[in-house]
Amino acid sequence: RQLRLQGPVQRVRLRSGLDAWAVLSYDLAREALTHPALVQDTTPAEEALAAVGYVLHKKGQGATGSMLAADPPDHTRLRRLVAPTFSARRIKLLQARVQTITTELLDQMSGQDEVDLVEAFTAPLPITVISELLGVPEEERSGFREMTGQFLSAQMDARREAGIWLNNYVAALVAGKRARPADDLLSDLVAQTNDEDGALSDAELIGTGVLLVIAGHETTVNLLGNAMVALFRNPDQAAVLRQRPDLLENAVEEFLRYDSSVEQSSFRFAAADLELGGVQIRRGDVVSVFLGEASRAAPQTGDPKVLDVARPSPRHVAFGHGIHYCLGAPLARMEGAIAIGELLRRFPQIRPAGPVEEVNWIPAGIMRGPVQLPVVLR
Ligand code: HEM
Repeated sequence: RQLRLQGPVQRVRLRSGLDAWAVLSYDLAREALTHPALVQDTTPAEEALAAVGYVLHKKGQGATGSMLAADPPDHTRLRRLVAPTFSARRIKLLQARVQTITTELLDQMSGQDEVDLVEAFTAPLPITVISELLGVPEEERSGFREMTGQFLSAQMDARREAGIWLNNYVAALVAGKRARPADDLLSDLVAQTNDEDGALSDAELIGTGVLLVIAGHETTVNLLGNAMVALFRNPDQAAVLRQRPDLLENAVEEFLRYDSSVEQSSFRFAAADLELGGVQIRRGDVVSVFLGEASRAAPQTGDPKVLDVARPSPRHVAFGHGIHYCLGAPLARMEGAIAIGELLRRFPQIRPAGPVEEVNWIPAGIMRGPVQLPVVLR
């Protein structure tokens, strides 16, 4: 926020050591994310990236070869392959399953007085949902949360190690699907690599798998954690939601606006000189759109500083903007509304076990969310 007060486009050194233009206002965030000269192709920025050992875009070390790392026409082709699985219509069909998983997790919690909400609920719910969609067997799910967290950290060595681990992990999953195809998304994608038209290369298949494993859970874990922290800080709003469950879907938008789980990310690379908000950006410069701050700065009906679950159509860029707009948004919204609604309904007394000010946050960087959230249930 201090940075934004100095101006909406600021030169910053990120924790990774990378120098970048931070974009901090809502309008300029949207302009940057749709600017034709701000792309995912890292070629002009290669030198700056290499200088800090930046690995996100190196082949075989994370979600390279995925739609998020691609520009059109590759982006269009890769997104089209998985888009039907995440359409609003298909996600609606998953609703009953998400409800069942939620109920099972809350049943397991109900015997206890105090739990870490992250470990007991906000992490296992999205992990189970995305694993079932992709077809990750239960015994193979352990480990990927820890490695995802490590991959999203700002420490380059840790990130490199986690990126390689995640690639190997998905490669092994894919090999399993090739040998024994099942009714799941990874098996469908494997079938596309055998396609004669070459719809999907092996590297793209693995990149897509890694992206879905990462994007499909860590973001939602933090949406749920941030939402509960926000409600603990604003018990009047929790009371409103208990009385008006019809506001849950709107409340999820408000949670995303108020404390977005993707705090600082959305890197883009300048393919040509350009101007953004009166600032000259040169070819090869790195732009980092701060989605959390841009969302908090968005014009709203009512006071943007307060949490208001009934705010009409909260504006935010928590899911990004433009062609890379979050593909999993319908899934995240549905999981968010069910999870928060059921938590408040089943545990009317739920409250933090200690002062909310002492919540242990993920170190500042791409993600924002509580590492643990000890709560008292009754
Ligand atoms: C892209 C946020 C949940 C899959 C994105 C982007 C953001 C985002 C900000 C755009 C990044 C950019 O432009 O640089 C979130 C948040 C979530 C969430 C806040 C939860 C609250 C999910 C889920 C999935 C998912 C559940 C499920 C698979 C994706 C994919 C992309 C993406 C595949 C890349 C889209 C593209 O490049 O065209 N997400 N996401 N996300 N997200 Fe999500």
